[in-house]
Amino acid sequence: MKVSAVRFMLSTLAALAVTGVVHATADDAAAAAADSDVKVLNADNFKEWADAQEIGLVEFYAPWCGHCKALAPEYEKAATSLKDESIALAKVDCTENQALCEEMQIPGFPTLKIVKSGDFDAYNGTRKEAGIVSYMRKQLLPALSELSSDNFNKFTVSDRVVIVGFIEDTASPEYAELESLAKELRDEYSFGVVTDKELAAEQGITESGVVVYKTFDDGKDVFEGDITADALRSFVKASSVPIFDEISGENYSMYAQTGLPFGFAFFDSNESRKLLEEQIYPIAKQYKGAINFVLIDASKYASQADHLNLKHEWPAFAIQNQGNLAKFPFPQDKEITEENIESFVKDFTNDKLAPSYKSEPIPETNDKGVFVLVSDQFEEVAMDKNKDVLVEFYAPWCGHCKRLVPIYDKLGDVLKNNENLVIAKMDAIANDIPSSDPALQVQGFPTIVLIRGDDNSIVEYHGNRSVESFIEFLEENAANSITYDKAALADEEDEEEKEKEQVVVKKDSEDDDVEVEVEVEVEAEAEVVAEDEDDSVPADKAESEKQEDDGHDEL
Ligand SMILES: *[C@@H]1O[C@H](CO)[C@@H](O)[C@H](O)[C@H]1NC(C)=O
Ligand SMILES: *[C@@H]1O[C@H](CO)[C@@H](O)[C@H](O)[C@H]1NC(C)=O
Ligand SMILES: *[C@@H]1O[C@H](CO)[C@@H](O)[C@H](O)[C@H]1NC(C)=O
Ligand SMILES: *[C@@H]1O[C@H](CO)[C@@H](O)[C@H](O)[C@H]1NC(C)=O
Repeated sequence: MKVSAVRFMLSTLAALAVTGVVHATADDAAAAAADSDVKVLNADNFKEWADAQEIGLVEFYAPWCGHCKALAPEYEKAATSLKDESIALAKVDCTENQALCEEMQIPGFPTLKIVKSGDFDAYNGTRKEAGIVSYMRKQLLPALSELSSDNFNKFTVSDRVVIVGFIEDTASPEYAELESLAKELRDEYSFGVVTDKELAAEQGITESGVVVYKTFDDGKDVFEGDITADALRSFVKASSVPIFDEISGENYSMYAQTGLPFGFAFFDSNESRKLLEEQIYPIAKQYKGAINFVLIDASKYASQADHLNLKHEWPAFAIQNQGNLAKFPFPQDKEITEENIESFVKDFTNDKLAPSYKSEPIPETNDKGVFVLVSDQFEEVAMDKNKDVLVEFYAPWCGHCKRLVPIYDKLGDVLKNNENLVIAKMDAIANDIPSSDPALQVQGFPTIVLIRGDDNSIVEYHGNRSVESFIEFLEENAANSITYDKAALADEEDEEEKEKEQVVVKKDSEDDDVEVEVEVEVEAEAEVVAEDEDDSVPADKAESEKQEDDGHDEL
């Protein structure tokens, strides 16, 4: 579940964050329209305007789109903030300027594009006022700004996070490393360099060094060690997240980028938030750069608590790795105190905690052709090296899984007498898969794998949904040989009709935030799930986008 679950969490956070905003802002948008600093563009004035901008930003939108409505007040405020810096913001209503938006190859709404004297480029910033302003300002700066005593102080407070290298020799390898990182991260951070030894000395820097200046926590972090782009990149990312602040859909990715484990502290009231702040802050400070401790609002993100196997009792705390997504809920019968959390975190960092896996109870009887597998028996049954185990991971709501039931049951019956073979199914919503093996990171439903009898190596099943094809697959891949009654199979042939159907879904794409409607042709393949219902666009209004789908989608 590596990539997909991270994205799942992200999109859930993002979706929730957005829905909160959408409803509150319709009035603001209307009010702002009268006295707006956002230039309204159409087919007639678009080109002339774009050519005239040294640097500008254009939003392509549709009036019905929820994300666009959420963006509107932020966009207005950003336009006003940037007005005096000759950075102009404009918008194009694509429902009224279809040809123009087609020509601009707008894939969904809203799409933002930077314009530089008539040339367009992707906008990769956030959709909040501060993010837009900071991103656009950086477009005007060189990747690495030369700093002198005249502009030094102003520069160090010019953004949430700015990075300053103190390197006298512009021909040194350190300078080259800093410059290359500055170019790589120029959209995210402002980088400056001081070559003046006296100015460096005033800042307490005597040898080459790098300092991250920031508007929160202690105000700055001094980088220690050899200046290489790699070391500096990790340092800057870890340094740009606060010691202990609230996480939301807007800033989830900033935390995720660090690659560090999360320490989620759930609050449901000002009291529980205060308690967490008091008890956890000292630990967050101590483990800065190793674990990102965050406050999270349980009333908005309760599903995140479910995901971490926490009961809805607040306050609550859990750690989650980003790499293998292993989760470690803090026992909910224990009090959240600085001492208890500290010892829990210490055990985590010393690898002394066992990850938590959600499981259904082990069934009392399990004598059918298809074995009902649960997380608590996974190791014992699925990883039995004396047996080949075919496992179908399914979701209760998945239609393709339901249609597979009679075929899979038949397969189980036909192969029942094979001592060294188990045909199993597991509800992967009610059970966590207790493995960090990438081959068991389920990306869609159903996912069917063979865990081989001899070495537990994993082969994914990609054949069609017929008993015959399953058997052929097992004969080819299982460690043990297979016997079955061929006559019992004969009456199966008729049922191999290919299922073809049209499903309309909101595809949870890379661009979680862009609204497009996707029509998918699913050919009896894995099911796609629309995670964020609130985001879906009414079909009659959507600018329909056809997109090929391989039938395997993220959770
Ligand atoms: C925006 O991001 C895309 C993909 O991440 C990248 O290819 C593109 O160069 C970026 N654009 C700018 C202006 O940085
Ligand atoms: C993340 O967003 C939340 C909600 O908007 C905000 O309260 C919090 O300060 C933000 N955190 C950071 C680190 O920017
Ligand atoms: C927390 O306190 C603020 C004011 O300090 C108040 O506006 C808010 O409603 C309180 N929240 C809760 C959940 O009690
Ligand atoms: C399904 O796969 C089996 C085995 O590869 C093959 O014999 C059969 O023709 C296939 N059925 C369909 C409908 O494609």
